[in-house]
Order: sequence, then C-alpha cells, then structure tokens
Amino acid sequence: MTKEVENMMDKIVSLAKRRGFVFPGSEIYGGLANTWDYGPVGVELKNNIKQAWWNFFVKNREDIVGIDAAILMNSKVWESSGHVAGFNDALIDCRACQARIRADHLIEDALEMKAEGLTPKDMTKIIVENKIKCPVCGKIDFTEARKFGLMFKTFQGVTEEDKNIIYLRPETAQAMFVNFKNVLNSTNKKIPFGIAQIGKSFRNEITPGNFIFRTVEFEQMELEYFIDEKDWEKLFEYWQNEMANWLDHIGIKKENYSIREHDKDELSHYSKKTIDFEYNFPFGTKELYGLAYRTDFDLMNHQNASGQNMEYFDVENNRKYIPHVLEPTFGVDRTFLAAMVDAYTEEEAPTGDGKTETRVVMKFAKNIAPIKVAILPLSKKEELSGKAKEVFDLVKTEFNSQYDESQSIGKRYRRQDEIGTPYCVTVDFESLEDGAVTVRDRDTMKQERVKIEELVKWLKKAF
Ligand code: GAP
Repeated sequence: MTKEVENMMDKIVSLAKRRGFVFPGSEIYGGLANTWDYGPVGVELKNNIKQAWWNFFVKNREDIVGIDAAILMNSKVWESSGHVAGFNDALIDCRACQARIRADHLIEDALEMKAEGLTPKDMTKIIVENKIKCPVCGKIDFTEARKFGLMFKTFQGVTEEDKNIIYLRPETAQAMFVNFKNVLNSTNKKIPFGIAQIGKSFRNEITPGNFIFRTVEFEQMELEYFIDEKDWEKLFEYWQNEMANWLDHIGIKKENYSIREHDKDELSHYSKKTIDFEYNFPFGTKELYGLAYRTDFDLMNHQNASGQNMEYFDVENNRKYIPHVLEPTFGVDRTFLAAMVDAYTEEEAPTGDGKTETRVVMKFAKNIAPIKVAILPLSKKEELSGKAKEVFDLVKTEFNSQYDESQSIGKRYRRQDEIGTPYCVTVDFESLEDGAVTVRDRDTMKQERVKIEELVKWLKKAF
C-alpha cells in the first residue's frame, strides 16, 4: 500500500469518527474485531442508501415485491442451500506468531493471482512452493490450510445440544426462495418477477476487514429474479445494466468501478455465471456487488428437501416448471464505503482574507446526502436564533435538516462540508429587515439571497 493510499483510508476513517459517520464497535472495551457502529450522521446516510435502493428496485417497478423475513431460519434451509457443507474459508496459521490468515488472501496479496476455488491442499502447496512470508511477522512457517465454517451458530431452547443448533443467516437470499410460493400465491405475479429484501447477514470473518468493507455483521440488499430458463442470457445483461444505472443514481463515478466475470473454477457452488462490480477502494480493487445466475439450484433443492412443490404454472403455455433465478446482490456497508470514498474531496478554498486553505468536502449525490440543509444563524443573539428557528421549522418537515448555532460561521461551514450537506442557509441581521436568507451551495460555495417565503420552493427545485 502506498503512503498516499494509506493516508486516504486513515483520513476517511478519522473523518468518519470525528463527524459521527462510523465508530469502532464496543470501543470502550477495546473493540470487537470486524464490528463497527453507525453514528448520528452515518445512520442517515445508511438509511438514505437503503431507501433509495428500495425506491429504485421495488417501489418504482411493477415486477418486484419486497419481504422482511426472520434472520433465524430452520437449519434445514442451510443444509439444503449447501451452506452447512460448503460455506467456509480455508485458513492457515503462522506457527511463529500464531496469526490466523485466510489462505486465499495470502496468495492473492503475495502473488497477485486469484485464489478462489482452490482447495486447501492446493493453497498450502502454492504457499510452500512460493515461500510466501507471514504478513504479520515475516517468517515462513505455516500449518496446513484448513476449512472453517463461516456461519455463526447459536442454540434455540434451553439445552446446547447439536439438534438445537440454529444459524445466523449468512445471506438474505434464502428467505426469498423459501417464501417463493407464499409470495406467488399472495400476489399473483407472473414470471419474470422478483422478490427483494434488505436485512442483516452474519459471517464469522476472521481476517482484518479494511474498515467496514468486511465485517462479521453487515446488511445486504438482495433481489431474486425468477425467470424462464430460456431468457437467462438477455435478462442477465438487463440486470447488469440496471446495476450500473443504480450506481449512477447514487452518484458513484463510472471511472471508479469495473466489471469482472468469474472464471469457471471461481464460481460459487450454485452459479453458472457470475460477475462482480469491483470498486477501486484505496486498499485495492475489490468486490462491491455481484450478479449471479443461480439456475434452479435453490428452488430445486428446497423442493427436494422439504417435499413442497416449488413449480410455477405458466397458464398461457399450459406448462409447469421450476423457475431459474438471477440474483443481483448489493452490500449496504460496501455501498456506504464506496459512497464515502467517491465523495471525499480535498480542495483549496479562499479564506476571505486573500489566502486559501484546504477544504475537505464530502460531495455525496444529493439523494443520499445524510443532512440536506443546515440552518445557521450568524450569531447566537436571540433575535437571530429566533428567526433561524422559524426557518428551521419551515424547512425540517420537507428536508432532513440540522440547526447549528455553535462556533464561528466558518467552522460551521467546514463541519457541514465534511458531512456533505448540500445547502447551508444563513440567517443574518439583514434577514430581520428583508425577510431573506443566504443559501450556500456545498460544491461551488456560491451564495444566493432567497426570500424565506420562497425558500422551500427554491430548495425543492435545487434537489
Ligand atoms: N446471496 C449471495 C451472496 O450473499 P456474496 O457475494 O457472498 O453473495 C453479496 O455477498 C454482497 O454482500 C457482496 O457483494 C458484498 O457487497 C456484501 N458482503 C458480503 N460479505 C460481506 C462482509 N463480510 N462484510 C460486508 N459486506 C459483505
């Protein structure tokens, strides 16, 4: 990692903490590996991402409906889906310093090659043959790579026996498959149609996660699109475009991501074709989203294991079949991180006395900006704060707004820039005379005088 790149991540993590986007999980007790808490500004950004996704993929379409299923599911779901047997990472231990490392990551970082799909035995061989060093202590003394399950286990009931084991879901997708018939029967949807869900997933990730990129508890926005097998290729292309349109919708710049198709030996156990949308994070080009053609793998397995019929009846052609599935999948936390990286800007700005200073500004797309408008009285004097609170009351019902009268106006502008607020509205002494306020644009820093009675209309036009 170059110094500049390291700095970029450090700057984002530090801004995230300073301004209330993201805090380390359980911090006062020394933290808990790979957990993070979203703060007052972060929760707004996260909610905006989820709401924008729901509007884009569910509310504004006729062919997709949503569900909100239980996180805990019958263990048979995870046996049928293949997760109990196959959802694991190969880990390797350094005998010298006891560090436990993902074998595929070790190979990928040292040799710059893809290691997905390799068996633990193959990985051990590659590590030994290439004399790969431990990234923690630099020694070459590893154990054999072994597989470790990624699902968190817990117990239902009072006894901790094997028969009571249940899992925290590692993906939201399975709830859409097990509810396929419920949704079909309650909505009368015709194929092609989709079921969407936003919710928490859990994976026992042991390697350091690069801030919120890889965490043990995270949120997914997933979409299972049920299709007739013959249409999979054209619909795959369609969903690839829709995913790119979504990234455009939330302002992620095209030059910052790319699409990569999985090699045959890299494909998940259920997939015939998968592409990743990869984002240029400061720590490397890594998976942001995935689009997989899951065939009829899931519905067929659930039909076989549960004994419940999962067929779809195509009335027009008098034909029964198990639908195939395309799955566009999106991580909420990775979207959040990509949005932070994409928005982070440092630029020279005039200080007002002929000099310039470096301004940090989060140039979020307006639809996901955590706070839309800040109302700032020029001074704390009562007549000004009274007027400013009137303006705040006027605006807050239409736009997520913040009222702030602390510190100098310059410092308040800097704070709003750092949380990416598109418009700051300043109430000054002239406002008491002319009933107008100054609206400052985050990106251009241009200021415009707007009548208070026109303000909501002005802002609606601007957003
Ligand atoms: N249902 C398919 C599925 O879960 P995945 O590629 O394992 O596929 C989908 O996960 C998305 O979930 C990823 O593209 C990523 O955005 C997000 N994701 C996966 N594991 C994650 C983790 N440990 N921390 C944060 N986000 C994660």
